[in-house]
Amino acid sequence: MDGITVNGGAVSRSLVTRILAVDTRDVGHFKDPTTLETWLPPADETKLGPLQEAAKHLKLSSIPVGFPTETVYGLGADATRSNAVKGIYSAKGRPSDNPLIVHVCDLTMLRSLISPTTDDTESIPVIYKPLIQKFWPGPLTILLPNPTPSKLAPEVTASLPSFGARMPNSALALSLIHLAGVPLAAPSANASTKPSPTTAAHVLHDLDGRIELILDGGPCQVGVESTVVDGLCDPPVVLRPGGVSIDCIRECEGWGGVVKGYKDASEVGSAAPRAPGMKYKHYSPKAKVVLYESSCKLDVRERILRDLESEPTAAVASIGIVSTKHWKEWAGLHTAGMNNEDEKSSNILHTVRTAAENGFTMTQGELWKGNLSSTSQCHLAKLIEIELGKDTKAIAHGLFSALRELDSRAVDVIYVEGIEDEGDIAAAVMNRLRKVATVIEK
Ligand code: TXA
Ligand code: MG
Repeated sequence: MDGITVNGGAVSRSLVTRILAVDTRDVGHFKDPTTLETWLPPADETKLGPLQEAAKHLKLSSIPVGFPTETVYGLGADATRSNAVKGIYSAKGRPSDNPLIVHVCDLTMLRSLISPTTDDTESIPVIYKPLIQKFWPGPLTILLPNPTPSKLAPEVTASLPSFGARMPNSALALSLIHLAGVPLAAPSANASTKPSPTTAAHVLHDLDGRIELILDGGPCQVGVESTVVDGLCDPPVVLRPGGVSIDCIRECEGWGGVVKGYKDASEVGSAAPRAPGMKYKHYSPKAKVVLYESSCKLDVRERILRDLESEPTAAVASIGIVSTKHWKEWAGLHTAGMNNEDEKSSNILHTVRTAAENGFTMTQGELWKGNLSSTSQCHLAKLIEIELGKDTKAIAHGLFSALRELDSRAVDVIYVEGIEDEGDIAAAVMNRLRKVATVIEK
């Protein structure tokens, strides 16, 4: 295929992209899990094959590799080589002014980045010790001082005095980093503006022809990205909500006064549906997204019917409904009267019910206007309903996948039921949803 142009830069799609499946059982372990000092890859040669191929690629090539972590799939490159890091941006299709997270396999590797010239075993700032002990390996990124000279390529830190480091809770990822022998800079492996990928198929969909290798370790457990914290300032700050909740961080010694250092779109003002100042559109599906905050008292069913009636074109609309904790089936549409409640003049005819790959339930239906017994029925809309479940972890797990699923079915509008963003990883879910939303109903 010819090159395509994104944000003014040509992006080649001419590569052959291969997916290498990796059996994720017994793919390595910590020598001593209580210290996280040394990661040991698997001894079994059959397990090592795809990992070694990807590691060799990371060492020698400047084309990044897609790989799973427990949060989302990452697009990894050798964080010590400028050309390799630049390869991430050309594959994703955008220039970068955003620093990248550096993924390490153990604390020995992390220390070599903080004090490259000495063997300083106390180089990790003491404020992070309780966090590392409690949450690593896991979905937490910590900011550390970037030394001079630094082993990291300047493109990784966007010339900031700090770098973000994370030890992912994925034996596959840790073994890949160990075998590559270098820390991996890795953003999420989506094309610019698309929701983060939580399966190898998502990565292939976005980056087919732009990279050569994707390691497939199955769907990601967490489903939203890591929490990013800065403990180098006082009080310490959560810069991005993610897989570890602020409440859990607050329980750690030295972190009782942690503050929220980010603003969601809905906190910036109702006139701004997307956070202003955001240079790039993140996480977005193609469809318009109408997000209902959990506090919203408005009736989504009425909104959908009103939107359909005001639709100027005669074409049948295609609508996605993403429900979480409280919405009725079909957002209540199957009992909704278009003009008169009593006549039950609209109906949904159920068709297929499938359990999609990522655990959510998806159902398709049709919305008709007119009394079933009358001859003057009119087909109003195709509906696809995705139920993410009531459990917050399940919602986080299926969220990006649900948005991608609806996008692949070319729906026009997605109505999403928000959740209360207190505790657990609900804050991360709502942060991502508010970024996605075209309209937020409060
Ligand atoms: O879960 C994750 O964190 C995934 C997986 C692949 O590990 N990675 C990820 O990377 O989400 P990315 O590049 O999409 O997000 C990096 C975030 C950005 O919000 C960036 O601003 C912040 O980390 N970040 C990284 N280094 C930073 C630094 N030195 N100062 C401030 N923020 C930093
Ligand atoms: Mg990202």
